[in-house]
Amino acid sequence: MPDAADPTIGVFDSGVGGLTVARAVLARVPRARLVYLADTAHVPYGPRPLAQVRDFAVQIIAFLFGQGADAVVMGCNMSSAAGAHTVATARFSRPVFEVIGPGSAAACAATRSGAIGVIATQGTVHSGAYGRALRACGATQVREQACPAFVPLVERGVSDGPEVEAAVTAYLTPLRDAGMDTLVFGCTHYPFLRAPIARFLGPDVTLIDPAEFVARQVETLFGAGAAPPDPARHRFFSSGDPESLRREGERFLGLPLPRVTRVDVPVERAVEA
Ligand code: DGL
Repeated sequence: MPDAADPTIGVFDSGVGGLTVARAVLARVPRARLVYLADTAHVPYGPRPLAQVRDFAVQIIAFLFGQGADAVVMGCNMSSAAGAHTVATARFSRPVFEVIGPGSAAACAATRSGAIGVIATQGTVHSGAYGRALRACGATQVREQACPAFVPLVERGVSDGPEVEAAVTAYLTPLRDAGMDTLVFGCTHYPFLRAPIARFLGPDVTLIDPAEFVARQVETLFGAGAAPPDPARHRFFSSGDPESLRREGERFLGLPLPRVTRVDVPVERAVEA
């Protein structure tokens, strides 16, 4: 186990989605210091080329290690689908966690029928990363659905109501009709919409949020620890409007976010670890 009394854990995403991962990590490792970067200047990542997202992600990971992170958790499925985890693991000496592997393993453990649905960004769906990971752990049927309207809704702070319900119905009807018994949130923004999605699918479909399972991996590496959380030790960066990250972060994490700093991505002079 690394010698980190209060480990600093870097988490990043295109926007607020990675907060779902940050919250899961803090629930498992409450003494962690969080350093979070939202690449809001480039949200949504979904329609962008995978190579561009990979480049952003690798630079952001370097930045987070430069900020003293003992490990980085990629709070963004698309960056792992784009291969950033492979590049970063080869380039950096400190651990880098990603969400597709643990999310897929959890879905395979949960399914009874072997039929698993995935909702994700266009880029993640087109990469085929979830299909490969799920089939490798035993899924017999995988159905992936891109949900491009979800990220803009979540970034606007809209997580329920008629607009969300219309989008949920449009995207999830084919998956529900295909009869899968397990659904993976293949984008970290989507757990913000968990309530309307759960309402639509009903209790027979198991919802898998990969954040919970990557957070267990982080706990295995660092140990939970018992120190009480001190919000002042977390740091937040945004490449866009710091105010929107502050607002959503405070609401979702239930913590005051006194420090949200503007930073440009691609990050100049990112320090490599
Ligand atoms: N939340 C990110 C993911 O998990 C990206 C969402 C986006 O910006 O399109 O893939």
